[in-house]
Amino acid sequence: MNMHVDERRPAPMSGHERSRHESSSQEAGQPVTRNPHAGHELSIRIRDLSLWYGESQALNKLNIDIFQKNVTALIGPSGCGKSTFLRCLNRMNDLIPGVRLEGLVEMDGRDVNAAKMDEVALRKRVGMVFQKPNPFPKSIFENVAYAPRMHDLVSRKAEQDELVEHALREAGLWNEVKDKLHQPGTSLSGGQQQRLCIARAIAVQPDVILMDEPTSALDPISTATIEDLMDKLKKQFTIITVTHNMQQAARVADYTAFFHLGEIIEYNDTRTMFSNPHTKKAEDYITGRYG
Ligand SMILES: Nc1ncnc2c1ncn2[C@@H]1O[C@H](COP(=O)(O)OP(=O)(O)OP(=O)(O)O)[C@@H](O)[C@H]1O
Ligand SMILES: [Mg+2]
Repeated sequence: MNMHVDERRPAPMSGHERSRHESSSQEAGQPVTRNPHAGHELSIRIRDLSLWYGESQALNKLNIDIFQKNVTALIGPSGCGKSTFLRCLNRMNDLIPGVRLEGLVEMDGRDVNAAKMDEVALRKRVGMVFQKPNPFPKSIFENVAYAPRMHDLVSRKAEQDELVEHALREAGLWNEVKDKLHQPGTSLSGGQQQRLCIARAIAVQPDVILMDEPTSALDPISTATIEDLMDKLKKQFTIITVTHNMQQAARVADYTAFFHLGEIIEYNDTRTMFSNPHTKKAEDYITGRYG
């Protein structure tokens, strides 16, 4: 972990807000949000975010600050709202009929849900990698080159070749595929397909990469490869990842948020979360007594 305390920078949550959250946290079900590492720059600010699928409330007044160029892990039992929360960050919930949202999702100081926000531009800035690798039914090359071409990031063939090689290298896949770039993406192994999806995500140079259980369909070696990759990619990108694997969260994440029944119960730096959780619910979950 690469964290330091710099009290001179403004904490994203004021001392007043923080002490209110901490003191009332357990009774009111509000999150314990500590920010002892305020030297990190803010990427995403969530305030009182609630979401309903029809009549059913899935997220309840979430408050969280996500820091740039860190890995933030979202943990919590099945159905607690982790994937729903991720989808709020790139407005993918807009695609689901009957969804209603309240509260603020702010990225780099801009309201993601503002009417003037361009959704295509937003999804370029916020890439996503899913649980099951889902390459397009196209060649390895096209899987990576397609989106940059759509966004007019490249035009000439030479530029495309360069960008595809760069993204595949960044994703740690280049050496395995450089001689078969025109074979279908789906011809690769599961672990390779997931790295292809990561290459596809980073090819448009997003700010944020969302990963929803990116390794749960992979063998331990591919999982370790992706974990190493996350550690490398966070130098350039803000990564938010969902995992049911506590060891993985402890290994890869700088910050960890524990979700439970649509609320963030605790948000902390990962070391504190796993060595000295501040809420009983998080402790029970982490130690396997719950969920
Ligand atoms: N498209 C949808 N329509 C209606 N309800 C939904 C939809 N997607 C999720 N939900 C509900 O919202 C709640 C949160 O679901 P979500 O998928 O966000 O949980 P999760 O924490 O990602 O769970 P898991 O760990 O199993 O992936 C659940 O009660 C779920 O049934
Ligand atoms: Mg999920």
